[in-house]
Amino acid sequence: MNLRRAILSDVEEMMALINHFADQGLMLPRSRNSLYECLREFLVVEDEGRVVATGALHIIWDDLSEIRALAVMEEYQGKGLGRSLVKALIDDAQTIGCPKVFTLTYQPVFFERCGFAMIDKEDMPHKVWKECIHCVKFPNCDENAMMLNLTKQ
Ligand SMILES: CC(C)(COP(=O)(O)OP(=O)(O)OC[C@H]1O[C@@H](n2cnc3c(N)ncnc32)[C@H](O)[C@@H]1OP(=O)(O)O)[C@@H](O)C(=O)NCCC(=O)NCCS
Repeated sequence: MNLRRAILSDVEEMMALINHFADQGLMLPRSRNSLYECLREFLVVEDEGRVVATGALHIIWDDLSEIRALAVMEEYQGKGLGRSLVKALIDDAQTIGCPKVFTLTYQPVFFERCGFAMIDKEDMPHKVWKECIHCVKFPNCDENAMMLNLTKQ
């Protein structure tokens, strides 16, 4: 298995993986257009030539970034791929000098295992909500907000 940066030819498989879980209400759907535009944010795990997991780190502001679109194919779940992707995305945040990483998720236990702690959504900076306007769930967000402060590690 190979954890690497996403490339253009991964987009169809990334979209199928993300939207498979989005159809189940587990995460937000992504359009082909948004995946191409944001491709540089994405990492993938490849196994035998196919994308089996993906996730992205999106920069919000000077001290904050967000883990988005994390998905591991069902038959590959429970093998540590999700944690490996989150760790690699956190490494990316550290590389660019970003001290805080948050996520909005329906999988709070998984993110707790990755070191994140629950926070009050009201404490999120306004810039986060500006981007939420584009979400299909806006303004009725029912996801858990979770934060990892890298300066406290
Ligand atoms: C959530 C998801 C990314 C986890 O990936 P994964 O590769 O199965 O997780 P890992 O094997 O790396 O698990 C890491 C730890 O989290 C725990 N964990 C994983 N998924 C969990 C879940 N749904 N509930 C509770 N604990 C979970 C594992 O038991 C493991 O615990 P450990 O610290 O005791 O070893 C994956 O199940 C998935 O893609 N789900 C569908 C899409 C989704 O919900 N994405 C999240 C959007 S924010």
